[in-house]
Amino acid sequence: MILIIGTGGQLGTSFSNLLGPSGRSLGLDELDLADFGSIRTVLDRFTPDAVINCAGHTAVDLAEQQAELAYLLNASAVGEMARWSAARSVPFVSFSTDYVFDGLKRSPYVESDVAHPTNTYGNTKRAGEVEGFDAYPAMLLIRSSWLVSGTCPNFGATVLRSAREGPMRVVDDQVGVPNIADDLATATLEALNQQLTGILHLSSAPETTWFGFARRIVELADMDPELVQPISTEEYGIGAPRPAYSVLTSERDTGIELPTWKGSLPSVVKEMLAWV
Ligand SMILES: NC(=O)c1ccc[n+]([C@@H]2O[C@H](COP(=O)([O-])OP(=O)(O)OC[C@H]3O[C@@H](n4cnc5c(N)ncnc54)[C@H](OP(=O)(O)O)[C@@H]3O)[C@@H](O)[C@H]2O)c1
Repeated sequence: MILIIGTGGQLGTSFSNLLGPSGRSLGLDELDLADFGSIRTVLDRFTPDAVINCAGHTAVDLAEQQAELAYLLNASAVGEMARWSAARSVPFVSFSTDYVFDGLKRSPYVESDVAHPTNTYGNTKRAGEVEGFDAYPAMLLIRSSWLVSGTCPNFGATVLRSAREGPMRVVDDQVGVPNIADDLATATLEALNQQLTGILHLSSAPETTWFGFARRIVELADMDPELVQPISTEEYGIGAPRPAYSVLTSERDTGIELPTWKGSLPSVVKEMLAWV
């Protein structure tokens, strides 16, 4: 049995669906990672074959105001789950982000590139990487970017909602790669199957901007792409600082490849349209 932590979110939902009865989903109602002292007690009720942590403080702008909580969820809790798993030699997987990089590079970031986050979310995620590996050097830490799924609140759903209300402006000078949660979960299970450890970048292709991504979503919803207009980060002006370039690729020879996001996006948008 694989224990999935953070099951209400995008990635957690994908793992729950993919694993079916061989997964055991632990939602916030059963395990509140902000209650640090309870983590071990709750995990002790299970004897999993692997633990996959999908939970976290993922609201990039809000994290600037909730740094302590973000650190607790994204760093301290990861360290604690890693310690618990290490003591039992149970494979432990946790997720990190392209936002651990500062975005100054102009070619895809690989696993050995030096992390240098520029916002609180990225700092807490990087701290989680460090705490995780300190506790469990053989854990698997997967970095990915710009997650979207058909079932949970995310950038795509926000775009669709805005487009229904009228024109919107979306930043066109931050370059990255969208990743479909189901595709990332499938690739992660392959990595787990291969017993990979250490840092692994898992990302789809090709690169785009938030503007390019938003236009594609609107087009797929049969709406006018002109509803989405470009704006610079500077003009947009609000929110946490974000890297201007955060494309990830892997320098590891794993043979694991994610499908292109453009190929997977139509079914995701179709799913979204049922509830947005
Ligand atoms: N979203 C992205 O663009 C992105 C990009 C790169 C990497 N990542 C990383 O990928 C992972 C999954 O991201 P996601 O987009 O699937 O996240 P998400 O949709 O925001 O889901 C986060 C999950 O964490 C849970 N959670 C929040 N506070 C908690 C607490 N105190 N105790 C236990 N669980 C708590 C949430 O529970 P509720 O649903 O009950 O609130 C939710 O299930 C995260 O590590 C994230 O940092 C995400």
